[in-house]
Amino acid sequence: MSEPIMRLEGIYRSFRTGRTLIPVLQDINLDINELEFLCLVGESGCGKTTTGKILAGLLPPSSGNIYYQGRNVRDLRGGDRREYRRSVQLIHQDPYASLNPTQTIFDMISFPLLHHKLVSGQKGARKRAAELLELVDLTPVEDILDKYPHQLSGGQRQRVSIARALTTNPSVIVADESVSMVDVSIRIGLLQMLMNLREELGVTIVFITHDLALAKYFAWDGRIGVMYLGRMVEVGKTQELIRDPQHPYTRVLLSAIPEPDPEKTRTKRHIQLRSEDIPRLTELPPGCSFHPRCPWFVEGVCDKSVPQLGIPASSNSSVEVACFPVQEGEKLQLYET
Ligand SMILES: Nc1ncnc2c1ncn2[C@@H]1O[C@H](COP(=O)(O)OP(=O)(O)O)[C@@H](O)[C@H]1O
Ligand SMILES: [Mg+2]
Repeated sequence: MSEPIMRLEGIYRSFRTGRTLIPVLQDINLDINELEFLCLVGESGCGKTTTGKILAGLLPPSSGNIYYQGRNVRDLRGGDRREYRRSVQLIHQDPYASLNPTQTIFDMISFPLLHHKLVSGQKGARKRAAELLELVDLTPVEDILDKYPHQLSGGQRQRVSIARALTTNPSVIVADESVSMVDVSIRIGLLQMLMNLREELGVTIVFITHDLALAKYFAWDGRIGVMYLGRMVEVGKTQELIRDPQHPYTRVLLSAIPEPDPEKTRTKRHIQLRSEDIPRLTELPPGCSFHPRCPWFVEGVCDKSVPQLGIPASSNSSVEVACFPVQEGEKLQLYET
């Protein structure tokens, strides 16, 4: 296997509010392979957006290392640093939040083109902007270029965000889907577009969502990383992870996805949690953060130390999981009865 295009190594990030230090990310280790479709999933507040910002260099980690094409980004200077910042682009997927209402579409797209000296002059910028709009299927191009965001539909605005991210010819796109984005047709259209761009332009996609059903569908040939309260609890190939979920939290998320087949929904087992309460980041329980809710909690083990990601000894798949009972090869009976 070739070297990953990006790597996160032992990433911690906390935020200070007043006198409290909130541990938002803890010990995130993640490889991103060239041209893959990697999906980060988890409930709101688990640290997905923070991870995305750290990948794109928009937020420094409190500690840990970020590698881009094998080089620690902390050591990048001058042109190398700019090259990294250009190559990894974050797209906020909320069509209502991300575009400046006072600029035309041409203003928005020409700015990074001219700023990074990727084109020369207004004429060059107009030509390149038109090409980019065509790439994201925003036509008729000449019509769109001089419009303001409010004159476009939600889906069109979303495409403008993608076109703008493409101005710098990125090799990695981190697409962060906000919870507030409810329009399913926009979400799906967008993902379809990202899939196409991955093939056409050869970009690696990191897709961030709270919705495992969407991740399952779009990352089917890729990988999924499941996050819970600032940690990665399971990561691996989508097909293996979905067919045979290991971590109790992944099982809970999957059991909540409605099946298209009503018969399957009826027979699908609902997993009963020990508690519905999600702990606060400032009051994390000792040991595994999921243990107060976990139906397979083992006293004296799960509440004592923090499990690390690893492939269970008895497993015949390549999915890594951070759970003591699973790693010990225990049968999680509740699920299998
Ligand atoms: N700048 C910040 N200051 C303080 N807390 C923050 C800041 N950014 C994020 N957080 C907190 O970090 C946690 C994770 O946030 P985020 O990465 O946005 O999660 P997600 O995208 O999974 O919903 C949340 O509890 C959020 O309130
Ligand atoms: Mg978020």
